[in-house]
Amino acid sequence: MKLPVIVCAVLVNTVHGECQWWWCEGSEDPALLGSYQADSNEVSVSGVSSGGYMAIQMHVAYSASIMGSGILAAGPYHCAQGSVLTGLDACMSNPEEIVLQDLIDFTDTSATKEDIDATTNFASGKTWLFSGLLDTAVHRGVVVALEDYCKHYMPLANVMTEYGIPAGHAMITEHYGSVCSTEQPPYINDCDYPSPYVLMNHIYEGTLSKPASYGGAMPGDMTTFNQTELVPEFVGSTSLDSVGYIYVPTGCVSTPGCKLHIVFHGCLQGRNVLGEEYALNTGYNEVGEENDIIIVYPQVTSSLGNPMGCWDWWGYTDSNYDLKSGVQLEFIKNIIDRVTS
Ligand SMILES: *[C@@H]1O[C@H](CO)[C@@H](O)[C@H](O)[C@H]1NC(C)=O
Repeated sequence: MKLPVIVCAVLVNTVHGECQWWWCEGSEDPALLGSYQADSNEVSVSGVSSGGYMAIQMHVAYSASIMGSGILAAGPYHCAQGSVLTGLDACMSNPEEIVLQDLIDFTDTSATKEDIDATTNFASGKTWLFSGLLDTAVHRGVVVALEDYCKHYMPLANVMTEYGIPAGHAMITEHYGSVCSTEQPPYINDCDYPSPYVLMNHIYEGTLSKPASYGGAMPGDMTTFNQTELVPEFVGSTSLDSVGYIYVPTGCVSTPGCKLHIVFHGCLQGRNVLGEEYALNTGYNEVGEENDIIIVYPQVTSSLGNPMGCWDWWGYTDSNYDLKSGVQLEFIKNIIDRVTS
């Protein structure tokens, strides 16, 4: 449900200039992210491409807070090792250059130093990995390296893969976007394959119900939220947008204990490029509505070091980018803490 901006303007006066109401969507002043008392033991993440790298960074670094991740077209944790050139080369095109042992050593050392959570948490987590047969942007071997990385820590059954869909480099949906084989804006492809359902059902141990359909009007609350207040102090550009999106299913608006899933868009898919297209049409909200999972879509925008608006998986923010102290990871942890409080 959306009310016109004018209604929001009336409410602003009644709450001393602070427009904190969910129905203020579309106004200049996005609401503060709500506290929904979501279940802190049922938090998961997913993403495509740079968002996939962000998802595995978040899962590994904050493994005590995250039970699982879904990753499309991305590679292992710390793959770029702080270098954009390594990122572009080994971690997209030439996976034979990935030295997995170095990434595992970095992970273990970082955990020992408590720069990331203990790897025993990650070892009991779940991951779901996707590589399209026609993906020319991120080589199959890069995703296989991530599979090997996950299997180094997790029982084999916790790692599920889908490598058989004739898809280009894109977010993969049941019902929306470009022809499955293509690689073109908005990089959302209609493959008759509901990757949000499949990945979340794996993470939540096969307990989810399938949505009856995709693409209709949604009964829950799709709104914007103020990202800025959740960004840790940082010198320099974080590339984080001022506004993010959240879908709150009808079963979670005033009922505690819902699950939480955080979605990372890929490069050129943020609000500055696509508006709310990604958050509305990728098929996550339908799964959330059916299964009482709050879906949050944090947004990055373009900046000097990041012209395509990608999540930071090579160190354009700073050298801590994939540790708990990385500004984007800490920001996501702040989202988790708010929604679960
Ligand atoms: C977000 O919240 C911060 C701090 O509460 C405030 O200063 C800022 O103006 C808000 N941003 C937007 C875009 O409303």
